[in-house]
Amino acid sequence: MNTVTQNGVSREVLVGVTGGIAAYKTAMLVSRLVGSGFGVSVVMTKSATQLIAPKTFEALTNRSVHCETFDGASSHLHIELARAAKVFCIAPATANILAKAANGIADDLVSTLCLSFDGTLLFAPAMNSVMWQKPSVQRNLKHLKEDGAKIIEPNTGRLSCGETGIGRMAEPETIFETIAGYFINSKE
Ligand SMILES: Cc1cc2nc3c(=O)[nH]c(=O)nc-3n(C[C@H](O)[C@H](O)[C@H](O)COP(=O)(O)O)c2cc1C
Repeated sequence: MNTVTQNGVSREVLVGVTGGIAAYKTAMLVSRLVGSGFGVSVVMTKSATQLIAPKTFEALTNRSVHCETFDGASSHLHIELARAAKVFCIAPATANILAKAANGIADDLVSTLCLSFDGTLLFAPAMNSVMWQKPSVQRNLKHLKEDGAKIIEPNTGRLSCGETGIGRMAEPETIFETIAGYFINSKE
């Protein structure tokens, strides 16, 4: 993989896609990042691949998309992808990945990368309002913030389940600006 640098500074972003319907918006985010000169690698959970095809992200990034820890591409994929990136953004972030990341559970490639990655870890949660308001979800968000992760808060609006409420993933442009902000004035 040819990593992208500018004046010797990394411009690499790792995007994790988990199983929320907002995954289609992540295609717009990835397109925006690539169009702005970032090197983008995408990793997906099994559930995410039910909602959007890995091929979509392969076409947008011109890179392989990885969904399995043991996928044969490399014996240490979870380390190599983590080392290459400066920012790891999970969008959409399901209630499930928030719970796993908050508790150090590493049972697939995306959750393992949450542990092996040492840079800026961003989550853009998306879920139904009832799920969002559950004490367990709020507890996991609090733990993630205390552990240094950044949460890109969801919006209130129409949800895919037909209800209106909190839980809509932040707009791709908002997530893009948050990611790009971490590269400004960066010297490494
Ligand atoms: C059509 C559909 C949409 C879903 N959307 C969401 C969602 O927006 N947020 C969420 O937390 N779970 C959502 N789920 C449930 C998750 O996909 C499910 O909890 C899954 O186990 C998450 O796995 P992952 O975190 O490994 O991707 C959805 C399920 C389906 C079938």
